[in-house]
Amino acid sequence: SEPLREHAADRGKFIGAALATGPLSNETAYRNIAASEFNQVTAENAMKWDATEPSDGQYNFGGADQIVAFATQNNQQVHGHTLVWHSQTPNWVQGLSAANMRTAMQDHIATVVGRYASNATVVSWDVVNEVFNEDGTFRQSFWYNTLGQSFIADAFRYARAADPNARLCINDYNVEGINAKSTAMYNLVSSLRQQGVPVDCVGFQGHLATQYGFPSSLQQNMERFAALGVQVRVTELDVRVQMPRDANDDATQATYYRNVINACNAVQACAGVTIWGFTDKHSWVPDTFPSEGAALIYDANYAVKPSYTAVHDALAGP
Ligand code: G3I
Repeated sequence: SEPLREHAADRGKFIGAALATGPLSNETAYRNIAASEFNQVTAENAMKWDATEPSDGQYNFGGADQIVAFATQNNQQVHGHTLVWHSQTPNWVQGLSAANMRTAMQDHIATVVGRYASNATVVSWDVVNEVFNEDGTFRQSFWYNTLGQSFIADAFRYARAADPNARLCINDYNVEGINAKSTAMYNLVSSLRQQGVPVDCVGFQGHLATQYGFPSSLQQNMERFAALGVQVRVTELDVRVQMPRDANDDATQATYYRNVINACNAVQACAGVTIWGFTDKHSWVPDTFPSEGAALIYDANYAVKPSYTAVHDALAGP
């Protein structure tokens, strides 16, 4: 059957994967699947601040350029991830005064976004990532504690200045369904846009777990954001199960994947779905949740799982 990307493209959507630079260099199977099945890629780590600017003003684009070159070669788009986040940001940033932190943020965004601004492969960015707590209050990150919530609007303005054509996203997890956190996101995006802040897109990460159930209001949530005039997308989809996995887990997981693709298919403003990797051989999940794993659509030997078929058939279907 046709690869996922053919069916997604027929719908005018993307199907993406997060890519890691190690296996992209070392594993033929990884490279082949990444190239053939997906029409969008996100750097799993290579574009984060600790990778791109480990010390003040010292930029390193080795991994980022590797991802962009791979995507260009394979006629894929790149979604940049991520500019302003509380995690994977070097200590030198976290200790700055307010004025210096704002300048560092501006310099970082101008340099990283600016590097790819004229590159047609890099089309969008996660400008700010994970700014909310679960109850919808702002996360007390070093950004927030030093600069207040103005860092969010500033980051979007700096990104727009660095690349007027890039689609600029705010991204978070546990905002797939309608809940306190996604409602805070909704209110923030609404208020930023009313103030003319260039927020174009909202990313629902989609780190799901079978033990927590499927966020059944996903489509309705996408629709309320779409009504604000923003694009929506699922940016980091995976569905972890209790290990060891069995056929029952695989079937439940496949249902979750199908539901996500179907929701995006049903909403015009949903640009596509990116999976946070593709093979269980390379996934963040077991490092973070030791009793869970097998969250992706290929197993650790690069064989397709029922979740692959679910994604395929949902993309191919009516
Ligand atoms: O690069 C070092 C390497 O030098 C060192 O030897 C090794 C030892 O542990 O660590 C390597 O860094 C790891 C890095 O991934 C690259 O592999 C870090 O320890 C590890 O913490 C880091 O994990 C990443 C995580 O973000 C960090 O927050 C995961 O790969 C990545 O999948 C995950 O992605 C995040 C998204 O960016 C945002 N949303 C949530 C998502 C899942 O946590």
